[in-house]
Amino acid sequence: MKNIKIFIGVLTVMVFVLIASDCLALQDVKAPDALTVIHSRKSVRHFTGQPVSREDLDKILRAGMAAPTAVGRQPWSFVVVTDRKTLNTLKDGLPYAKMLDKAGAAIIVCAIPEKAYEKRVEFAVIDSTCAGENILLAAEAMGLGAVWTAAYPYKDRMDVVRKTLSIPDDIIPLNVIPIGHPAGVDKPKNKYNPENIHWERW
Ligand SMILES: Cc1cc2nc3c(=O)[nH]c(=O)nc-3n(C[C@H](O)[C@H](O)[C@H](O)COP(=O)(O)O)c2cc1C
Repeated sequence: MKNIKIFIGVLTVMVFVLIASDCLALQDVKAPDALTVIHSRKSVRHFTGQPVSREDLDKILRAGMAAPTAVGRQPWSFVVVTDRKTLNTLKDGLPYAKMLDKAGAAIIVCAIPEKAYEKRVEFAVIDSTCAGENILLAAEAMGLGAVWTAAYPYKDRMDVVRKTLSIPDDIIPLNVIPIGHPAGVDKPKNKYNPENIHWERW
């Protein structure tokens, strides 16, 4: 009798695991495709104040580091801020990043000229910008909201970010990207304009 009970118990657990893994597989199938994410992305500036999980931040950072870079140099680093006090210090010092007060986290994409191809500031900034866009797209894909707020090229804003986060002088804090759970429903803007396209030559 005892053996039968154990057998039924093990069987129940196995069935549960199978159903759960099936559900997870279904979730994967439902993940939006790349073009849907690209066309859905918008700047989100209103957040609920809920934290963003470490797991979600890790996924977003991985997306950032999947970006292309000149000669594969990856001249970047990412400062992740979740501490409310630090988020508020950044908010107070930056004129156009007031949405940080309700963001769950912020990622600061830092460009490192020393690591860039030909040690050029331009490549460090271009490459890190690609990572920044990947971060925005990953947040969108995960149902989170995000917005690029400028640090570079404003010296006063870069100084605020450097001072708040102890970033060395030779590292460029490109931006501050507040990330959070959207408080409302923002719509993407339609920016498609055929006048911006030149087929074959200008
Ligand atoms: C380089 C750069 C700097 C930006 N700086 C700010 C900023 O300081 N504050 C802000 O609220 N949005 C900022 N934005 C977001 C833009 O305002 C936004 O991308 C633009 O209005 C288009 O809207 P969308 O992102 O919803 O498509 C910045 C975007 C870029 C690319």
